[in-house]
Amino acid sequence: MHSGAEKTLIKMENINKIYKGVQPVHALKDINLTIRKGEFLTIVGPSGSGKSTMMHVLGLLDTPTSGKLHYIGQETSKWNEKQKAEFRNKEIGFIFQAHLLLPEFTALENVLMPYYISRKTNSKMKDRAKEILMLVGLSDKLYSKPPQLSGGQNQRVAIARALMNNPSVVFADEPTGALDQQTSADIYNLFRKINSEENMTFIIVTHERNLAQKADRIIEIVDGKIIRDEIMSSYN
Ligand SMILES: Nc1ncnc2c1ncn2[C@@H]1O[C@H](COP(=O)(O)OP(=O)(O)O)[C@@H](O)[C@H]1O
Ligand SMILES: [Mg+2]
Repeated sequence: MHSGAEKTLIKMENINKIYKGVQPVHALKDINLTIRKGEFLTIVGPSGSGKSTMMHVLGLLDTPTSGKLHYIGQETSKWNEKQKAEFRNKEIGFIFQAHLLLPEFTALENVLMPYYISRKTNSKMKDRAKEILMLVGLSDKLYSKPPQLSGGQNQRVAIARALMNNPSVVFADEPTGALDQQTSADIYNLFRKINSEENMTFIIVTHERNLAQKADRIIEIVDGKIIRDEIMSSYN
């Protein structure tokens, strides 16, 4: 294991998620999982197997029906919505396929948008945003707007935005699903670079097997259950 990967960050204990309704769906079935700080983990599995549900539960965006989710030793079911939101804002970065950038605003403004909204923008924040945009390889696109950027460049803006608050963990749900192969590979390499340089934990859902193979660890979910949990030897 590379440095920093030894400390437990997240622990799922007998997690179940049932979507109630006329036809209830048992989307996660007795999931037990420990994720260490600094890990680079991919989640694979067929469509409808529970990957996004897992991300939502892990990211405190949805609550499990039963079981326990621990973050850094703390049991999160005791947290109220405000505490969860605070924790998410401080510790978690989200990257989704539909990058939800505002087309009228520049790359720099898009990265700063959460801070504009919460009225916390200052010159330090702007410096941080520029630094992050540089890290993702967009130092020459600070003032470009999404329609002037390629799909891969826009995804980099979304990545920069997710990294602004220096989260301990980044969740990405099929972040390269809409991108061509080369751009996907570039984004992956960027994730790996940030993972090793900033020691951020990455948890990535992907359909792309060849990209999943580049992780430290692959988890495969089928029908709401973990059927494979493999540590890749090349990163041991
Ligand atoms: N909000 C929801 N309400 C009801 N059922 C849902 C909801 N979200 C997902 N599901 C169902 O839960 C199962 C797992 O879905 P999901 O986690 O999105 O799978 P994946 O991301 O692997 O494609 C599927 O059967 C899906 O239809
Ligand atoms: Mg999904």
